[in-house]
Amino acid sequence: MTTPMEFRRYLVDIDSISTQQLFTDCLVIGAGVAGLRAAIEAAQSRNVIIVCKATLQDSNTWMAQGGIASVVGKDDTFESHIADTLHTGCGICDEKIVEQVIREGPALIRQLLEWGAEFDLTDGHIATTLEGGHSHPRIMHAHGDETGRIIAQTLIEKVKQNPNIKVIENFFAIDLLTGDSDQCIGVIGHDDRGLQIIWATNTILASGGAGQLYRETTNPDVATADGLAMAYRAGAVLSDLEFMQFHPTTLYIAGASRALITEALRGEGAILVDINGYAFMNDYHASAELAPRDVVSRAILSQMLKTESTHVYLDIRHFDKQHFAKRFPLINELCESFDIDIKRDLIPVRPSAHYMVGGVKTDDSGKTNIKNLYACGEAAATTMHGANRMGSNSLLEGLVFGKTTGHFASQCKKEGAFHTMHPMIKYHIPNSDRTRLDTADVRISLRSLMWRNVGITRKTQPLIEAQEIIKFWQRYVMDKIFDSRTGWECQNMLTVCQLMVQAAQTRQESRGVHFRSDFPGTDDEHFKKHIEIVRGK
Ligand code: FUM
Repeated sequence: MTTPMEFRRYLVDIDSISTQQLFTDCLVIGAGVAGLRAAIEAAQSRNVIIVCKATLQDSNTWMAQGGIASVVGKDDTFESHIADTLHTGCGICDEKIVEQVIREGPALIRQLLEWGAEFDLTDGHIATTLEGGHSHPRIMHAHGDETGRIIAQTLIEKVKQNPNIKVIENFFAIDLLTGDSDQCIGVIGHDDRGLQIIWATNTILASGGAGQLYRETTNPDVATADGLAMAYRAGAVLSDLEFMQFHPTTLYIAGASRALITEALRGEGAILVDINGYAFMNDYHASAELAPRDVVSRAILSQMLKTESTHVYLDIRHFDKQHFAKRFPLINELCESFDIDIKRDLIPVRPSAHYMVGGVKTDDSGKTNIKNLYACGEAAATTMHGANRMGSNSLLEGLVFGKTTGHFASQCKKEGAFHTMHPMIKYHIPNSDRTRLDTADVRISLRSLMWRNVGITRKTQPLIEAQEIIKFWQRYVMDKIFDSRTGWECQNMLTVCQLMVQAAQTRQESRGVHFRSDFPGTDDEHFKKHIEIVRGK
């Protein structure tokens, strides 16, 4: 009998005896800010393996432009940063977690400086700028708009110097392995040597985001939500999946990849205008260009509809060209590569999927409901961001929770005992004779479907349609056994998209980044809570 596809525990056949094996105290899956910081912390007392799907450079962290938010200016206060975060989170942030992250931030930023990160300075002090929702300029940046790269490089250097950490690149983590009492005991994955099992006393999931589930996204190719899918299959509680954050300003040139145009540009005076040159943001929010992201994204969408256009523009013609080139080198290069002269031309932009607020539910130490499994960074739902993340709060959260999970995951028994006790796993998937679909085509169609039906605004009928189409594809994709990344990614994307649609259907109200045009109001009585999903047994 075929295992019902929704109950299939693993994506591949497993025979642990004949599979190549590695052992570690602490396994970290993912190498963005959270994973790297977790590994550094855990390696103080344990041996650590970090696996990442592509190279250490392929992460949302590496691509982050705007910066990292923290209270470093003398006019700023923790209370103010906490209040802004709670306000933007629309009533469902956990205040204790918000406090924890914001208060621990400055010490970890200082540590980054000690480790060699060079943040931009003005008059000898760390320079800060504004982004939407922040009532003080508290966004630090490095090499202008290359903040993520500088932070990642600093942490990567630290990881490379650490003899307790082994890095395995181009390793596709297929599934978390669980033992007899459902505890996490490692991962099965694939690299150029074939299938590998890594047995781990503790596993930290820091596998990043899910932007590739949408046709329009700022995220790198690797962001296909694999971590969420494998956590779901292993029985982890997922939370807040309806909260996909759309970044308002992504470069829109048909055929070009959707590069981020940082919000810091608006923080420093860029104006949004429609195709008729009309500056529309004041019509939508008192904070205009610096309204929270969800407001700006919906305003752009509405203005695009009004003017029947595919995009709006950022106007920075009043910027000083030399200052711009120094302050925003990545965007300057991008504009030049498309012959956009910022003194003469407008920059075409529109929103795209940017940040998954939801993820694997964790507590204040990064623990999930599965014993020995932790999660941090974008893969985790810590409740820091509530229903809407403020710009540049995520690098901060990744840094703080990376350290925290690394600390708690290293408080484990020494590896020796564990190594002799790991169980034997045998799992066999029967052949399916259902017809095969072209997974490359399913992937493209799925991303378009998500953009169309589960995008910036949602409503019942398109959500029902999305659910039905995804279920149809699942029937023909989830029953197969693949032997390469593209197949497993397609299975993971279908899994997580289905859960996101389910969460979006359940939340029959609008809150933060989740906007239902059929339920435009916020309904605290029924929905001031988190929507959690866990796989049935
Ligand atoms: O606009 C930006 O630079 C993005 C920042 C963020 O998503 O935190």
